Amino acid sequence: MRRKLAAGNWKMNGTAASLAELEALKALMPENAPDVLICPPAPLLFRANEAARATGIQIGAQDCHAQNSGAFTGDISAAMIADTGASHVIVGHSERREAYEEHDSDVRKKAKAAWAAGLTAVICIGESADNHSANNTLDIIAGQLAGSLPDGMTATNTVIAYEPIWAIGTGKVPTLEQIVEVHDFIRGKIISRFGAEIGDMIPLLYGGSVKPDNAAMIFKAENVDGALVGGASLKAADFAPIISAL
Ligand code: G3H
Repeated sequence: MRRKLAAGNWKMNGTAASLAELEALKALMPENAPDVLICPPAPLLFRANEAARATGIQIGAQDCHAQNSGAFTGDISAAMIADTGASHVIVGHSERREAYEEHDSDVRKKAKAAWAAGLTAVICIGESADNHSANNTLDIIAGQLAGSLPDGMTATNTVIAYEPIWAIGTGKVPTLEQIVEVHDFIRGKIISRFGAEIGDMIPLLYGGSVKPDNAAMIFKAENVDGALVGGASLKAADFAPIISAL
């Protein structure tokens, strides 16, 4: 059985006071909740891990450098993230790909750095609005999978998040049929490259305007094992019903 995961990406939001949401979330989560991951901004990682200790909520970072250490002002390494007690790191989020011109090869190196530090890499892929309109989604996804996933993926070191860029923060969500098509396609691709023992076990998350009122629809897809949630992960009252729907 594949593990289910509800992941929250706080992006550049939140201060130490926001960590109160972790305890609030624990109080609202169902008894048999799936795995829950919160990725706060980097300055909060140590405190988030402390705050989450009693809750069972896992903590992750939003990006890492591909190198372990060195003269890279402003960057943080996967080893540093692991040192905070975090378990995951997001790599290749479309906001990083777009704003910092990160390419598949960068994402692949970051994922390898994450693994080397003992972290699970949450590798993001997704097509732009233009590619969606031009019906190029599956070609783009195939290219991103081939370029962003390093050799050496195991059943436990990776989570893949499919986030159509046009759905992020827009309130637009693909139809269930579109989500099924892309997630089935991703599953097929990773099985054919890594074999069924690994490809069948990798959790596939959907991301892009997941909200309490559409989560149940999205989670109907067999190859959707959870969600990567932005805006609706900031408040426990919004994130808890999404977790409950999984
Ligand atoms: O990482 C999360 C995604 O970019 C989705 O963000 O739920 O605010 O659309 P959103």
